[in-house]
Amino acid sequence: EKGGYEHFMLKEIFEQPKSIHDTMRGRLLVEEGIIKMAGIWDHLERFKNANRIIIIACGTSWHAGLIGEYLIEEFARIPVEVEYASEFRYRNPIITDKDVVIAISQSGETADTMAALKLAKERGAFIYGICNVVDSSIARITDAGSYTHAGPEIGVASTKAFTAQLTILSLIALKLGKHNGNLGNAEFMSLAAELSAIPKKIEEVLEATHELTQEIAKDFISATNFLYLGRGYNYPAALEGALKLKEISYIHAEGYPAAEMKHGPIALIDENMPIVIIAPKKGHYDKIVSNVQEIKARKGKVIAVVNKGDTQVKAMADYVIEIPETSECFSPIVASVPLQLLAYYIAVYRGANVDQPRNLAKSVTVE
Ligand code: F6R
Repeated sequence: EKGGYEHFMLKEIFEQPKSIHDTMRGRLLVEEGIIKMAGIWDHLERFKNANRIIIIACGTSWHAGLIGEYLIEEFARIPVEVEYASEFRYRNPIITDKDVVIAISQSGETADTMAALKLAKERGAFIYGICNVVDSSIARITDAGSYTHAGPEIGVASTKAFTAQLTILSLIALKLGKHNGNLGNAEFMSLAAELSAIPKKIEEVLEATHELTQEIAKDFISATNFLYLGRGYNYPAALEGALKLKEISYIHAEGYPAAEMKHGPIALIDENMPIVIIAPKKGHYDKIVSNVQEIKARKGKVIAVVNKGDTQVKAMADYVIEIPETSECFSPIVASVPLQLLAYYIAVYRGANVDQPRNLAKSVTVE
């Protein structure tokens, strides 16, 4: 059942090349330059004419939603808002029949997400589901949807479901962009090829960072706080990295957009503060370099996730995790993997029950 791995979480982290591949299979036809998604295709006019798309979710799925916002706005040029389901449902939100509401939920059973969807449906919005569990409550109530094919996720901390959600959101953004004329053919083709290469790149990352993250984890077993920073597409990846660490290791961690550091969190930085910074070459690299300088000037401990061949951040960082380059929009998929491993090993070395962290349930069917 655990396939030789010590925990389901580790098994599921290692399953990601396959789960992402399975999520794209039959949908992303790179050579033909086609993305097949019946849920989108059958309702293309609804999407094309949407005033806006509202993404609702909780926890890790909400982080995927934030990245979905960047993807859909960049490639399809449709305005997107992302809301916590629990906030959305209790604040009498403005929803019309011109809105498309996308719910993201691994389990498909999250009570707040379900209630938010019901509200959106009552008000005439078209509701779309991105679920991992087939025939789950959310999958059944939605007008249409696309399943993530991540396979059963047993570890309470979501890993492979998250990267599968990002895969679906990438496919949706590229498909909508292609059909509403915002994404030219050449760019579509190159992004499609890049997306199809992600499973291979994740294999490389797993291979290259599995031992390294264990080494790094050993130095932070007694940490009491962590900061995670990223910009652009990797800002939500920083939030997700921090959530993984706090859920399973019980170390307090906060994710922040790197540029916001100087508006508050910089006050926390001293030689005892570990800071994970996601700094791939594409995506405000120069800005990130100056963020790292600011951290080092205050003696923070920098764990940097950089692209292979990086020099500038590498020269300043205390720990370096190298990942292969990809398009900026897909970089959170790749960057998330070593952060999952880091959180996992810190938790394991602290003796925590990683598959069943205290106080948490796999699917939150209460409000
Ligand atoms: C984090 C985690 C939770 C879930 C959240 C939503 O690792 O597992 O934050 O992401 O409870 O769950 P779903 O996606 O099932 O709606």
